[in-house]
Amino acid sequence: MIFSVAILLPLALSLFDQAGSQEIRITTTGTSERPYCTAPPTSSIDFHYAPFKFSVSDTLRYATSLPQPTATTTYAPPYASLSSILESRSTTTWGSFLPNVKSAIANDTADKYGQAAWTSLWLAANIVNYTTTGLYSTTVSPTPVPTSELVLPPADYLRYEDCYNFPEGFIWGVAGSACQSEGAVGLEGRSPSIQEVIFSQYPTNNYVSNEHYYLYKQDIERLAAIGTEYYSFTISWNRILPFVLPGTPINKQGVDHYNDVLDTVIASGMKPMITLLHFDNPFEFMRDSVTQTHDFGYHRAGWDNVTWPDAFLSYGKLVMSLYGDRVPIWITINEPMLYAANAKGLEHVVRGHAALYHWYKNVMNGTGMVGFKLNNNFGVPLDPNNSTHRDAADWFNDFWLAPVGNPICLGEDYPTAFKQTIKNVTSFNAEDLAIIGNTTDFFGVDPYTPTVISPPPGGIAACAANSSHPLHPLCVEQTWVGSDGWEIGYGSEGTAAYIAPKYFREYFSYLWNKFKKPVFITEFGFPVFAEGQKTLSHQRFDLPRSQYYTSFMSEVLKSIWEDGVDILGVIAWTFVDDWE
Ligand SMILES: *[C@@H]1O[C@H](CO)[C@@H](O)[C@H](O)[C@H]1NC(C)=O
Ligand SMILES: *[C@@H]1O[C@H](CO)[C@@H](O)[C@H](O)[C@H]1NC(C)=O
Ligand SMILES: *[C@@H]1O[C@H](CO)[C@@H](O)[C@H](O)[C@H]1NC(C)=O
Ligand SMILES: *[C@@H]1O[C@H](CO)[C@@H](O)[C@H](O)[C@H]1NC(C)=O
Ligand SMILES: *[C@@H]1O[C@H](CO)[C@@H](O)[C@H](O)[C@H]1NC(C)=O
Ligand SMILES: *[C@@H]1O[C@H](CO)[C@@H](O)[C@H](O)[C@H]1NC(C)=O
Ligand SMILES: *[C@@H]1O[C@H](CO)[C@@H](O)[C@H](O)[C@H]1NC(C)=O
Ligand SMILES: *[C@@H]1O[C@H](CO)[C@@H](O)[C@H](O)[C@H]1NC(C)=O
Ligand SMILES: *[C@@H]1O[C@H](CO)[C@@H](O)[C@H](O)[C@H]1NC(C)=O
Repeated sequence: MIFSVAILLPLALSLFDQAGSQEIRITTTGTSERPYCTAPPTSSIDFHYAPFKFSVSDTLRYATSLPQPTATTTYAPPYASLSSILESRSTTTWGSFLPNVKSAIANDTADKYGQAAWTSLWLAANIVNYTTTGLYSTTVSPTPVPTSELVLPPADYLRYEDCYNFPEGFIWGVAGSACQSEGAVGLEGRSPSIQEVIFSQYPTNNYVSNEHYYLYKQDIERLAAIGTEYYSFTISWNRILPFVLPGTPINKQGVDHYNDVLDTVIASGMKPMITLLHFDNPFEFMRDSVTQTHDFGYHRAGWDNVTWPDAFLSYGKLVMSLYGDRVPIWITINEPMLYAANAKGLEHVVRGHAALYHWYKNVMNGTGMVGFKLNNNFGVPLDPNNSTHRDAADWFNDFWLAPVGNPICLGEDYPTAFKQTIKNVTSFNAEDLAIIGNTTDFFGVDPYTPTVISPPPGGIAACAANSSHPLHPLCVEQTWVGSDGWEIGYGSEGTAAYIAPKYFREYFSYLWNKFKKPVFITEFGFPVFAEGQKTLSHQRFDLPRSQYYTSFMSEVLKSIWEDGVDILGVIAWTFVDDWE
């Protein structure tokens, strides 16, 4: 690719230069070096006739699964041996929350964790147009993947010619999340999360979704068949602990479900990666106050509730103990800047993550990796030659990354961009930072696109001090058009993602050199524009998505081999269309 660009570009430019003059005829003399060409360049053209015959035929190439591992690796002691480090809890089962529940409410009202109490959790959440109706109501047995579904797409004619291979141990995977793919939200003992409450306001909701809760065996078999190494999934707190809080009973059906998901992943030859909390904080933490008022991010998830830190630690210990023997990679919390909502919420996230990290490493003696993952669409300056633009891009990236990255990676306080804009931020003291610092094995980030940043009229400081300012709290101008008047790349739906590979190598350097932890691309992906309007057959030939991935991965390779940036691996989002 490098070579063909170098050769084609001058030709293209000369065509432009002469446009408007008359006929353009390009003549070349001699040859230039084309190391990628197998036939030697020839300097004379031989026009000639030859018998015509059809020659193009498809060569079928098939996806293959990875070889089954020959040995079992364990990453922590088994659950059965960990009771001495866990609080005691009972284990039980509940029923399901059905649309006609009001007439069928249970009568065990004296039991504070009984069926009636469980049902009242749903009634309190008061969700709109609730339905449980999907296609399935029990786990679907997987059907073998037909060979015809394993035919690889034709090779990409525009493919990148990379000079490097991925290093030994580079992680490849695909992700999904409980609240975005499971469905079955009120079934088999699960209690309500904030997702049902927030999104019940919209005609699209997560009540049924892709029914991954019932289809996981089928889905996992298909992921393994195409050669996927890691399946990254998330656990629903409300399925494990319907009453959420420390000391409350464990839901046997929820625990069994994820045990089987894990065992199915491992039996298929893949490796699991688990996130403890992915947007679906239990509704319990907001039951007296469903306000969505937030100082930053998208939604308030209830992480600011004073009871949250103890409850999260207790839940995290339980899940890590239940499944830790089989799990090599853990994420504590997904994209906290979008749901933490205020200074207290974020402080709880940072302290909760650090406490669980210490417990996993030093009490449970887990040997897997533990980290976090953050949203961030890399801010790049509109005019990189102008220091106020560079400062604005730094401010933007600091705002999204450093409130978590500074304390957890570096043992440093929140960044100025956060302290100056957000109300009531309490700085960490040296004692806090000694506990919180260096409590991650990687810097997980979900970069979908670069964003072009410039300072606001009147400057950043004036905006930061004024919470009524229209650009507050980010306090920068964002666009996806560069200083040359062109969009930064090929766009998907809205501005969610762009194929803009030239910025990513710089981004990986930024992350590695600033936070000094291995970089882990924990989500990346490309929703193709208007894909839903195409036939399935059209959709499957997803050239833009292929270009997004191959160009991105090309930059990952250069970053590793030429810039010395430690990139652990990449996880594609998402393995299935999610309910959004
Ligand atoms: C509770 O309901 C069950 C059946 O739904 C019934 O058999 C039982 O007698 C009821 N118990 C009380 C105390 O009303
Ligand atoms: C709930 O259902 C009613 C009747 O079908 C419909 O009019 C209304 O828009 C729905 N509300 C939401 C939030 O989906
Ligand atoms: C905070 O969480 C507790 C459960 O620990 C809950 O009882 C309380 O209602 C929550 N507070 C608010 C304001 O929702
Ligand atoms: C973890 O290791 C420490 C130190 O070796 C040991 O005291 C402790 O019992 C271990 N914990 C578990 C759960 O095995
Ligand atoms: C920045 O400066 C360089 C070197 O002076 C110049 O080549 C480039 O065009 C400038 N970029 C912009 C966006 O002005
Ligand atoms: C740098 O950017 C600021 C803000 O957009 C602008 O006011 C200033 O004129 C620019 N400076 C130069 C040298 O272009
Ligand atoms: C900030 O603190 C003030 C005074 O303690 C309090 O009234 C206010 O509610 C707090 N605001 C937020 C967003 O936490
Ligand atoms: C951070 O923790 C890692 C793993 O425990 C350790 O190898 C490293 O030395 C620590 N770094 C600092 C700066 O404490
Ligand atoms: C804060 O911003 C609002 C909205 O732009 C503006 O009306 C107000 O004058 C600003 N306040 C100060 C102190 O600048």
